[in-house]
Amino acid sequence: MLTLALSKGRIFDDTLPLLASAGIRVADDPDTSRKLILSTNRPDVRIIIVRASDVPTYVLYGAADVGVAGSDVLLEHDARHGSAGMYRPIDLNIARCRMMVAVHEGFDYEAAVRSGARIRVATKYVDTAREHFAAKGMHVDLIKLYGSMELAPLVGLADAIVDVVSTGGTLKANRLIAVEEVCPVSARLVVNQAALKVKRTEVQALLDAFELAVKAVP
Ligand code: ATP
Ligand code: PRP
Repeated sequence: MLTLALSKGRIFDDTLPLLASAGIRVADDPDTSRKLILSTNRPDVRIIIVRASDVPTYVLYGAADVGVAGSDVLLEHDARHGSAGMYRPIDLNIARCRMMVAVHEGFDYEAAVRSGARIRVATKYVDTAREHFAAKGMHVDLIKLYGSMELAPLVGLADAIVDVVSTGGTLKANRLIAVEEVCPVSARLVVNQAALKVKRTEVQALLDAFELAVKAVP
């Protein structure tokens, strides 16, 4: 049995066509079903539905053989736990966005950087943000949030946020501006190291199919 960990929403939706090209069709829709283990047309393949930030944990511990996780999630996982135990063989080029530093439009970020001021940064990517600002030689106080980061500068919780940006619509709606890129983000296929050895044939077949499907997208 091959177990694939996906989060519902954009990762699940964008992975479906890749699965289809590997001949795998999912029997349930996670948006309507409360099931957390979804069967597929293949008796030897099942999907488990987990939080996006939990995908690396399931794969690392071998509860899932394979998973799809945003590179933002993987970066944060690695900053905290190191990169051992999981291969990340394919950039799937889905769920693309950019991790950015953003501030309220009235906040002079450049002046704060120049003056060496200590700023407060709210983010769910605490370890990634710490590394980013340390590399710039900036002093920051990090505040961990689990969502709606864009609210923090509006209510005085933080001077800046680190979050992912796609269309820029959320920033704009909240009068925030992106001032710096941390890194580009897209989802990767992650594979449990032991599964690649023990279930080599099944895992390799899935990797090959995904790789072909990704290459076929213009
Ligand atoms: P969690 O539930 O663990 O807090 P989440 O709410 O960030 O995670 P999703 O919103 O489903 O989970 O995002 C999954 C992945 O999709 C993110 O890790 C990121 O790589 C990417 N992503 C997030 N927001 C966007 C966006 N607006 N556009 C494109 N990709 C995005
Ligand atoms: C993500 C992210 C931003 C938003 C950016 O949130 O946390 O808030 O997308 O996208 P945009 O630049 O296109 O506006 P999401 O929509 O996933 O909601 P979430 O807070 O539930 O993760």
